[in-house]
This record gives sequence, C-alpha cells and structure tokens, in this order.
Amino acid sequence: MRADPHSHADLDQARTRHLALDLTVDFAARRLHGTATLDLDRPARRLDLDCRGLEIASIADGQGRALAFELGPTDAVLGERLRIDLPVPTDRIVVTYRTGPDATGLMWLTPEQTDGGVHPFVLTQCQAIHARSIAPVQDTPRARITYTARITVPEPLSAVMSAAPGTVSRGDGTRTFVFDMPQPIPPYLLALAAGDLVSRDLGPRCRVFAEPGVIDAAAWEFADAEKMLAAAEELFGPYRWERYDFIVLPPSFPLGGMENPRMTFLTPTLLAGDRSLVGVLAHELAHSWTGNLVSNATNEDFWLNEGWTVWAERRILEHLYGTEEAAQQSILGRHELEETLAERTAEGRVTALTYDQRGLDPDVEFSRIPYEKGFLLVTALERAVGRARFDRFVQAYIAHFAFQSIDTNTFTSFVRMELPEAAAVDLEPWLHRNGLPEDAPRFASQRLAAIESRAHRGELPRGEAFSTTETLVWLAHLPPTVDARKVADALGIDGRSNAEVRTAWLTLAIRSGTTGLEDDLRAHLDHVGRTKLLRPVVKAMGARADLKALAIERFEANRERLHSSTRGALEAALA
Ligand code: BES
Ligand code: ZN
Repeated sequence: MRADPHSHADLDQARTRHLALDLTVDFAARRLHGTATLDLDRPARRLDLDCRGLEIASIADGQGRALAFELGPTDAVLGERLRIDLPVPTDRIVVTYRTGPDATGLMWLTPEQTDGGVHPFVLTQCQAIHARSIAPVQDTPRARITYTARITVPEPLSAVMSAAPGTVSRGDGTRTFVFDMPQPIPPYLLALAAGDLVSRDLGPRCRVFAEPGVIDAAAWEFADAEKMLAAAEELFGPYRWERYDFIVLPPSFPLGGMENPRMTFLTPTLLAGDRSLVGVLAHELAHSWTGNLVSNATNEDFWLNEGWTVWAERRILEHLYGTEEAAQQSILGRHELEETLAERTAEGRVTALTYDQRGLDPDVEFSRIPYEKGFLLVTALERAVGRARFDRFVQAYIAHFAFQSIDTNTFTSFVRMELPEAAAVDLEPWLHRNGLPEDAPRFASQRLAAIESRAHRGELPRGEAFSTTETLVWLAHLPPTVDARKVADALGIDGRSNAEVRTAWLTLAIRSGTTGLEDDLRAHLDHVGRTKLLRPVVKAMGARADLKALAIERFEANRERLHSSTRGALEAALA
C-alpha cells in the first residue's frame, strides 16, 4: 500500500479505531484545550501522529503512566510529526494539549463577524489536512475512526458536530455538549461549530441550524432537503447516517458547503431568496454516499470524492428539477473546467485526475479539475453501458466499498471486474494524462446554446427572463468589451442578486474597465468568505492598476476572519 503523502502516520504501527475528545472552547484565548484519547486496534510500541501547532502538555497511557514523546520540526505542508514511544506496548493513548494560536482548521469569529453581532463564533474546516491542527490524529483518510466528544462552551452558546448529539449539562457559566459518531469516518470529517444557534425541523430526518436572525431564511431556502434525501436514497441506496442535518454558518466560512457527516456546513451566500443555489446542498448530501461512505484513500484520489459527487449531485437535481437544469449545470461546469485547464496548463501544472502529490499542499492543488473532469469520466462510463446498467453498478460500488477508503487503482480494478461492458472507455488518459480526451461527453441545451452565441456576439438580453444558471452563462460568455452597467440592467443584476451572480458580474465589470465599482467591491470583499466568490474578483482587481491597492487593503483588513486556505488562495491570486 502506498503511504499517504500527506501524513506522518505509519499504519503498520497500529491504526486508531476511536477518538474521544474532551475539549473546552476558550474564546478569549482562541484555543481549544483538553484531552484526546486514542484507542488503537492493537498494542503499539511506537506511534507517529500528525500535529500542526498543537501545544502538548503531557501524554499518558490508559493506566495514566506518563509517556515520552518527541515533537518533530514543522513541515510547511505536513505540520509536525508527534512520535510517542511506548516501553510497554499500549493500545490507549491520552494526549493533554491545547490548539495553537494559528490553528489552520479553526476559525474564531468576533461578534461583529456574526449575524447577531453579540456572541463570538467558532467553526472548523478540516479537509484536506487541517484536522491535525485541532487534535493529534493519524490524519489520513485511510485511518477511519469513530469518535465521541464532550465540548464545553460558555453559556448561552451551543455546539454542533459531525456526529449525533447527546446530552447537554450545565456547569459554572458553561454548557457541555456530548456527541457520538458511531460510523467510522476519515479524520478530515471531524467538525465542530459553536455559537448562538437555533434549529428548525424540515422533516423527519432533516433539521437546519443557524443563528436566530438567519433561521427563517435558511429553513425557507432549503425546504426541499427531505425530497433530496429521498431522491438520493432511490438513486444510490440506503442513507447510512441516520439523520441529515445542516448548519448555515457566518459568511467567513470558506466554502459553498462541506459534507461533514450528519451536519453539513453551508455558506450563508446560498440564501438567495429564490432557492436557486440549492445545488450545493444536493452536492453535500450526495457526499453521504460518494466521499463519506466510499472515501478517497489520499488526496491523490480526491477525484473519487468530488467527480463522483458532482455526478451524483446532478442526478439528484435532474430527479427534482428536470433534465434541462441538470444539463445546464453540466454545460456551465464544462466551461469552468476548460477555463481551469487553460489556466493550469499555462502555469505548467498537472491536469491529470491523479498524480504524485508528495511535497505538494492539497490546498494549493485544489481546483475544479477533479470535480468536472471526474464528473465527465463518470458520465463517460454511464453512457458506455446505459443508465439502467450503470445505476445498478453504482449501488453495487457504494455497497461494496461502504465505510472504506479506496485509491484510484482499487476503483479501476472494480470497474474492470464489475462493469466489463465499459471497456470501450480507456481510463488511462482520463486518469493519468493532462487535458480532456477528445471524446469526452457533451451536453445539449438549446437555451444555453442560444445564450452562448448571442453573448459571444456581445448581444444583450431584451426583457427576457433567465434562471441563475442561464444568467451565469450570459456573464461567462460576454466579451470584456461589453458595457457592464448595461449588462446589469439587461440581466436585472443589482445589490439583491445572489452572490454567485454578483461575483460573475463584478468580475466581468472589472475586466471590462468599468469605473466607480469601489463601493460594490468593498461590500463584497468585506462580507464574503467563500474562496470561490473572492478569488476571481481579487484576481481581476489585481490585474487593474487602479484597483490593485484596494484589493490588497481589503485582503489585509479581512485576513483574520478568513480561513487559512482562503488566505493562501488570495495571496496567490494577488501575486
Ligand atoms: N468537500 C468539498 C469542499 C472541500 C474540498 C474542502 C477540498 C476542502 C478541500 C465540498 O463538498 C465541495 O465540493 N464544496 C463545493 C460545492 C460545489 C461543488 C457544489 C464548494 O464549496 O464550492
Ligand atoms: Zn464536494
């Protein structure tokens, strides 16, 4: 087995089976402190764990005997190796520690950075390799763990995790929330959020959490959650995580969504008021099968998570909203893929689905390629054998590898064995070569074809109504010579438009040389935290002499409320 290039773990020593966390959230110090207890599958003589900035006070075995440990030097990508030597072979290790002041997986928000403005907020984002900044773990998806946690927060705050909630007990000005995650998960799915939270039931298995001022809008926007869950079960097999709850976070959250099991994390920029961005919820829900049940073994196999999930997301959307919507999303995805391929190719970077990532930072490698090229590969397999046959294969694939973490070779062997009819699809160029195979699947939408050619000619819409996806296609294809203010009028884009549309319009407006954008840009940069919505705007500003200084100024002003991965992406965009 190839070791995980992003972990210090040596799975021949032992594997962690269960993690028990007992942590206090200290907002004043911006640290979590307490203990992490690791139960191993066998007594070990030595154990190497991943850490990033953790301050270790002591380590003991299950009997409370102190253990010697050595914290290695900091590797910029991997963090530190924590080596524990066990004179008596031991299968339980208790680490007493606190998180570092710059924990990359933690976001500490001031009251002003929340909707309510009164209480602080903390949230985690661990994928791909930030769990190690929160707890000492074998931070590779190959080492799946169950976990339990006791999380103590100041009153009146609440905590949620990627786990089943248990009891709540009162302390001296504090409340302690207990959690249990009985299904084994990769460590990147550890997740915690704490703040002033309320919740609303959306149906028998779905509940949405948010700050009090956001909960009504959140419950309205995601009213289709139960329907999505039912559709997904029909398509991919039984839902194995009991409940599907989710939380709408403050705007600093760096992603559209994160598939933390039992508690998907979502950006508030999805609250468009017209349910036009619920595709992100479908995507995170789909990960309950593709990614969380069948997980990538390492980040080199990341496309197995995301390519499959984009495919699954679009099947859910097709089921609920029809073939035209699903086809339109696929076409827009193809456009984004081609832009990314061009950009990465120009930078001399790899655009294969799987490649050697030793020494590379997963946050830097992240792009649309595993999503959209992966989606096209799955679609190519589907088209080669027909949908009915493929759907049976998908259910078999998920059932076969449920609660396992697999690499790309395991996937290809399974396809060869279980889907021999797909032999016409040559996997090699998809997986190992740059760019896209000539015969990559195409999608047809007459509406989008018309929009694309009108937009290429610089034509503007005339009083017609367009969906969010269609509006995005207009914006993606209009030449930068266009008058962006006229575009806004023609497409009905204003301050109330959804964040995806506003991002695309701002980017076009910057590129087309529009002046007087400063207030709009400030509002955008000071509110949004989602990398996908910041990066194109910041990049375009960086290329304009009159806006570069503003981009840098707002980046510095907002730095502290952004996730470490977002900071990195924006620094690169400005460089
Ligand atoms: N798991 C990803 C987010 C992620 C990937 C975080 C890699 C860190 C490292 C999540 O499921 C995702 O893909 N989110 C997308 C949603 C979109 C594709 C619908 C996002 O946030 O944009
Ligand atoms: Zn995803």
